[in-house]
Amino acid sequence: MANNDNLIALVTGANAGIGFHMTQHLARAGIRVLQGSRDPARGTNAARQLNADGLEVDQLTLDVTDDQTIAAAVKHVADKYGRLDILINNAAIVGDGLPASQVSRASLLQTFDTNTAGIAAVTNAFLPLLRKSGRPRVLNVSSELGSTRLVNDPDWPHSNVAAAAYQLSKSALDMLTVLYAKELAEEKISVLSVSPGYRATGLSNGEPMPGAGDPSEGAAGIVAVALAVDPPTGLFFNWQGEVVAW
Ligand SMILES: NC(=O)c1ccc[n+]([C@@H]2O[C@H](COP(=O)([O-])OP(=O)(O)OC[C@H]3O[C@@H](n4cnc5c(N)ncnc54)[C@H](OP(=O)(O)O)[C@@H]3O)[C@@H](O)[C@H]2O)c1
Repeated sequence: MANNDNLIALVTGANAGIGFHMTQHLARAGIRVLQGSRDPARGTNAARQLNADGLEVDQLTLDVTDDQTIAAAVKHVADKYGRLDILINNAAIVGDGLPASQVSRASLLQTFDTNTAGIAAVTNAFLPLLRKSGRPRVLNVSSELGSTRLVNDPDWPHSNVAAAAYQLSKSALDMLTVLYAKELAEEKISVLSVSPGYRATGLSNGEPMPGAGDPSEGAAGIVAVALAVDPPTGLFFNWQGEVVAW
């Protein structure tokens, strides 16, 4: 996008980690950001940190597994702005972190509810407002850990990770990206999967993340894709802006 003025972006799960840093980068670029958080107190705390940095954000309570909060968030954006230009589906959980032979049904369902069904629910609810944008785009924050090609490659440094619920939910999310991209192509709504790369955040539930990079750097890479002038659709971009084969 050549001119970021007056653009409106929503980032889900933006009170911490990559989502927080994407909110910060977008706000610094002059974009009006709706900072999604499932917990109002954590959302207020995160918004205060940005305010202290001189950045204005619009704090929005949104639990991607709760249709009532999604509907209330859509109403807020409709009443206040009348459209949405950029939707970044970032909120996710890691699940129980167990390999396929040990994963529980409960963890699979909970992780899919947040990481996959939650993204479909949020995207579908915001589609009418995205259709009112001149340059609509949806970015689904995914992970290379959902790529069957990379996970099957013994030379890929993370190929030994086995967190079945999380990885399956991200593979399904990537299919969702492709399905949306095809369905919405005529309406010129760009839908992409993006990854921040391996970053030290709360996603590991306190487990050490040796060698993980700076979350702000990964977030900046995704924001650069989000602000591309003419984004393609139906592809997976890494944080360096390169297309990753699925
Ligand atoms: N970190 C990495 O190495 C890495 C690598 C590849 C991809 N990613 C992806 O990057 C994205 C951000 O993850 P992160 O690393 O920043 O993890 P994080 O620090 O754990 O942040 C996750 C965010 O999602 C929120 N969230 C969880 N469930 C939610 C729900 N039901 N509704 C709304 N928000 C919810 C969390 O809110 P609470 O604070 O309330 O829990 C938190 O704000 C995820 O999609 C993840 O899969 C991360």
